[in-house]
Order: sequence, then C-alpha cells, then structure tokens
Amino acid sequence: MNETKNTNKKAIKIAVTNQKGGVGKTTTVMNIGAALAINKRRVLLVDCDPQHHLSNWFGFEPDGKPTTSDIIFSVVTNQKINYSNCIRHNENENIDYIPSINVLAGMLGIIAADNNSSNVILRIFEDDYFNNNYDYIIFDCQTALDLLVTNVLKACDKLIIPVQADLLSYDGVEQMTETFMRVKNDTDIRKYLIGLLVTMYQTNTKHSATIYNALRESYGDLVFNTYISFRTETKNAVGFHRSSVADSKSVVGAQYIEVAHKIMEVCENA
Ligand SMILES: Nc1ncnc2c1ncn2[C@@H]1O[C@H](COP(=O)(O)OP(=O)(O)O)[C@@H](O)[C@H]1O
Ligand SMILES: [Mg+2]
Repeated sequence: MNETKNTNKKAIKIAVTNQKGGVGKTTTVMNIGAALAINKRRVLLVDCDPQHHLSNWFGFEPDGKPTTSDIIFSVVTNQKINYSNCIRHNENENIDYIPSINVLAGMLGIIAADNNSSNVILRIFEDDYFNNNYDYIIFDCQTALDLLVTNVLKACDKLIIPVQADLLSYDGVEQMTETFMRVKNDTDIRKYLIGLLVTMYQTNTKHSATIYNALRESYGDLVFNTYISFRTETKNAVGFHRSSVADSKSVVGAQYIEVAHKIMEVCENA
C-alpha cells in the first residue's frame, strides 16, 4: 500500500454497525482507526454510543468541551458551534476523536423533533471543517437500529459490519444491510459495504470456521478475507487505553492492519 494521503476532496465516512451487541464494533473502530493513522491517514473517530465505550478506550473524562450530543443539539437548534473545539486528540494513537457521554441517549427525541430528522448527522459532517481536515471519519454506533444509527448510516459513504464468530451471530446481517439500503434509497449494497468482518474467531473449535464459511457462502467476497482472532490481550486492551495495533506483537493488531489495507484499497481506488 502506498504512503500517499487520500486525494479525494471529501473525507471518507465509514459506519461500523451491527444491531447486535458485543460483536466487536468498538474494538474494530479503535483498531482500524489506529491502523489507518499508522498509514498516515488523518483519522477522526466519532463516538455515537451513549454508553461511550470508545471514549472510555481513550480514557476520556468530561472536560467541559462539547461532545457528540452538544453538536447534535446545536445543529438541531440552529446554533453555531466551533467544530475544532469539539475535537480531542490522542497522542498515543495519533487519532482525533469526538467523545460521547450518556446524555446522548436523550438526543433521540431532539433528533426526532427536527424537520429533517433523518439528516441531522449528515448535516454536521458535510461541513468543510471535517472534509478539509480528515481522510477518514469512522463512527462507532450503539447496539441498535434507531434514529441515531440510521442518521449515521445516512451520513456515511461506506459500511463495515463486524460479525462475531458465534452461533447464529449473522442473523441480523440481512436486516442491517436492508436497513442501510432503505436509508440510502438504493439497491446495490456493493457500492457501500466494504465488508463483513468476522471477529473473535477461535481456532480451537470448528465453530468459528463454520460461521466464517457460511458467511462466505451467503456474501462471497463481501466478507473480509482477514478475520479477527479472539485474544485475551485484545479483551484487556481497553483497560490499557491502547489499541491492539499499537502492540507490534499482537496477532489481532496485525489482522486489523490487514483490514485497514483492504479499506484503503476499496475506498481510495474507487
Ligand atoms: N478480538 C477480540 N478478542 C477478544 N476479545 C474481544 C475481541 N474483540 C472484542 N473483544 C471484547 O468483546 C467485548 C465486546 O467488544 P466491543 O468491541 O465492545 O463490541 P460492541 O461494540 O459491538 O458492543 C469487549 O469486552 C471486547 O474487549
Ligand atoms: Mg460498542
């Protein structure tokens, strides 16, 4: 992969979603963000989950500056907001992020009351500030398919669906892709879906391979060749506030770097 920056004018916006919880969404956002940053891409991660696991990963503590909910509120109420004041920088991973706090849960009603309630997140991130300053903006979504998640889907160019290599974990994938296409008012998922990413793959049972193969049969090359292994060091990484990518010995880190290469290939050679 070459080292040049994305020459597209607009930031590429990627949603990492699955309405099922605990499938590795936040872990995937953190690690592909770190891997893209290592490849010299300018990365912004946006925490759109009221449970703010991504913000916890960065060790974020409320600091009086605006979070995701403040941005939403200001846009819905037509107030000016200085976007640069909403950005936090994490030195270790060389990533910018916008944190969330649990108040975000209450923003659903605020979004719903907007005249153009499906476009609130889109209106924020189409601002020149974001397109001029970032190559990739990646959204960590909550475990749901509610108005906040569909807003994120509408704002995004691309989609990654993490699927845990677990019993029937791919049940929701079809519903997820159908929702995305409805939001986009389109029928060609290939234009948007970078891939289904099999996570927490265990090599000591046949089970993960069965799931991976079943997904391959249904979705073909829309499943990332690279799967993400289940590793205790990754389970514990959030407590150390570091990505697995930052650990040069981490198997999972190396896998996420491969995934990031695929993302750059798909998004930058289009
Ligand atoms: N590759 C992995 N190996 C081991 N544990 C993992 C891996 N990926 C995620 N986890 C753990 O699984 C749990 C759910 O992951 P998370 O990324 O928070 O999922 P989601 O955001 O979909 O709810 C967390 O405790 C996380 O640390
Ligand atoms: Mg999460």
